[in-house]
Order: sequence, then structure tokens, then C-alpha cells
Amino acid sequence: MKPDFLKLKFLEDQNVQEISKYLQSNHDSNWQDGLLTFVGDPNTKKNKQLRNQIFKQKISDIVTQSLSSNKEYSRYTYPKHIQDFLVTRTDIGGYYNPHNDIGLNGHYSTTIFLSDPNSYEGGELCLYLNGEEEKIKLDPGYGVVYKTGIPHRVSKVLSGQRDVIIFWTISYFKDPFISELYYDLAGISFNSDDLNIITTHSDFETIMQQNSFKLNGILNNLIRRYADI
Ligand SMILES: [Fe+2]
Repeated sequence: MKPDFLKLKFLEDQNVQEISKYLQSNHDSNWQDGLLTFVGDPNTKKNKQLRNQIFKQKISDIVTQSLSSNKEYSRYTYPKHIQDFLVTRTDIGGYYNPHNDIGLNGHYSTTIFLSDPNSYEGGELCLYLNGEEEKIKLDPGYGVVYKTGIPHRVSKVLSGQRDVIIFWTISYFKDPFISELYYDLAGISFNSDDLNIITTHSDFETIMQQNSFKLNGILNNLIRRYADI
């Protein structure tokens, strides 16, 4: 079964440290009010976004590189396109009230936490699931990817400062049923130790008996038939 959200490690410690270097400056020229790129009631949220284009590009390169080798993220989203990364800073008194992300953003929303959870109070990402709030606050480098469409909010920051990276993923699979099928099948494949053995055999007879090879064929057929390619 495909969960509504997944907590994953997205960045190694050295990645987080490098990104933190770019975020040290609190100078106004590097940051802009989050409302500047927002259409809606100004009381909806209070945060800042990284504006410095050079820093944004450096951070984008680091996160893109990390995502390319993240098997669990790929299995969950089967990404066709990743939207531009947003780096947001929420200071004391900052928040983001309950909202739905814009449909055109994509199929999956991701928040990667950058700040030490002990360095700030509040600032939890709260997902509204089955009538209850799932409050999420993770160590630096860890994040949560969830189905876009789940109502969510960021609770008020009571002390310290909360930095996160946010982005949306457009999936090759638009249909949730197919997406779940892929997730479950790919889970068997990822957990199989047989996959690497395939290449050591040159004869068809051995290979055709291996479940991992059969599964690989099914996955590729699923992609050919249903992926938005
Ligand atoms: Fe959101």
C-alpha cells in the first residue's frame, strides 16, 4: 500500500552544511517576503523566501544531485519533472495557515528540513489526514514527501528560525491507482537481491526463470502503457 506521506533522508550532513553556508546571511537583499510571489489573502502566511539567484542555483544543484540517487523518492513519485526549489525562512511569529497547494504545481509536495529541531519551537508541518493532524518536524536533511492535495499548514514559530526547502514533483503517473501499482511492484524489485545477478548470465534460459527479470519486464510494460511519456 502506498502511504499518504513518506519521511525520507534527502540530504547528507555535508550537503546540509554547504546549504547552511548560503543561508547564514539574514540580510534583506538575500530574502524577500513570501507574499510577493503569492496571490491571496495576505493573512494566509508569514514567511520569507530566498531571493539570491546564485545561492538558489547552488542549492538547486545540490538537491537535484541528491534526488537523482534517492530510490525511495523515485519509487514514491516516479518523477517526470521537478519544479524549481523554494527555500523558505520562517522567523518568530511566522506561520502558514491551512491551505491546498495549487493543482498545477504537480502531484507530490516535498519539504526538506534544514534547521536543528531543537533550535526552534513550533514550525511543524501539519498534514490533515483522516480528520487529524499529523505534525512533522525532522532533523536537518530529512524531509517528507506527500500527495499534493492533502490540506496542510505550518504552525507558528514561537522561538528560533525555521529554514526548509520546498518543491513539487510532476509524476509520469497521473492515475493514483497506477501510481500505487508501480509503487508496490517497484518495492518488490528494490527489495530483491536477485536484480544484480541478471547481468552475470548470458543465456536466456536462466534469466527467464528469474522472478526479478520477470518483474523488471512487468514494470517496463506498466511504464510503456501508462506513463505520460
Ligand atoms: Fe503548501
